[in-house]
Amino acid sequence: MSIFSNQALKNEHALITGATGGIGAATAKTLAGMRAAVTITGRNEEKLENVAEDIRSTHPDANICKQLADLGKDSDRETLVEQAEKACGPITLLVNNAGIAGGSTVDELTKDKLESIMDINYTSTVLLTQLVYKKMLKKKRGAIVNVSSLSGLRGTHGNTAYAGSKFALIGFTQSMAVEAIEHGIRVNAVCPGWVDTAMGQQSVENKAARTGTSVEELLQSSVPSGRMSEPEEVANTIAFLLTDAAANIVGESVKISGGTVMR
Ligand SMILES: NC(=O)c1ccc[n+]([C@@H]2O[C@H](COP(=O)([O-])OP(=O)(O)OC[C@H]3O[C@@H](n4cnc5c(N)ncnc54)[C@H](OP(=O)(O)O)[C@@H]3O)[C@@H](O)[C@H]2O)c1
Repeated sequence: MSIFSNQALKNEHALITGATGGIGAATAKTLAGMRAAVTITGRNEEKLENVAEDIRSTHPDANICKQLADLGKDSDRETLVEQAEKACGPITLLVNNAGIAGGSTVDELTKDKLESIMDINYTSTVLLTQLVYKKMLKKKRGAIVNVSSLSGLRGTHGNTAYAGSKFALIGFTQSMAVEAIEHGIRVNAVCPGWVDTAMGQQSVENKAARTGTSVEELLQSSVPSGRMSEPEEVANTIAFLLTDAAANIVGESVKISGGTVMR
């Protein structure tokens, strides 16, 4: 059930990356339900179309722009922002959600793997944000949410590349937040624990296999609430941070993890 007014983001235009994935699709639907125009982007055309159809099935009047983009490519990022603004007007909200998992223990980590994770989860995110931010600066308004992770707050076994990229995203969030707020633009991060998406299922299954336990036992023993978060629960937190209800929340890293990490 949504706690948000169906007008809360009227006249806003949200760009959501990774919208073909679990958290991104749920976020796009939630923001469309609050009347934001949404630009959804990912690399998989069929999934992008399915997400748009799903949003329209619940919100028939939704204003949706679809744009394929590989965020690791400079030209794709530039085209994405250009096409989004052409179709739906100035971007006022940005959700940096695209990301990849993977990696290995330090002794087996390859340079290619390290660079690909840092590129998508950090460098490309910063560069896309820079493009959008320069446009937001002209209007002196906007809000940005970066999707980091509990792995952006504490390291875990076999997670060097991913955790490093998500820690970096928190550093970026905090540094940019103090610059951007001078111009009326807010930047925050969310830090989900395990979320019930393809990525989250893989992660919990890997850990269960490594520690010789079942997924159910692992969730019971390591998550105080005893379960993964739903993508919609992360989407609701992102949505809150994008609204004026969060007007004085700046540079924060909000956890959605059923109590997994208490500090
Ligand atoms: N699920 C969890 O347990 C969990 C926990 C903490 C944080 N997170 C973070 O939450 C975010 C979303 O995760 P999710 O669980 O929804 O994952 P997901 O279902 O695997 O979705 C990942 C998304 O990222 C996009 N993406 C990956 N590489 C890309 C690239 N080079 N260019 C453009 N888009 C790219 C994918 O697009 P295509 O498939 O179209 O290529 C997809 O839309 C990620 O940043 C992840 O690190 C997830």
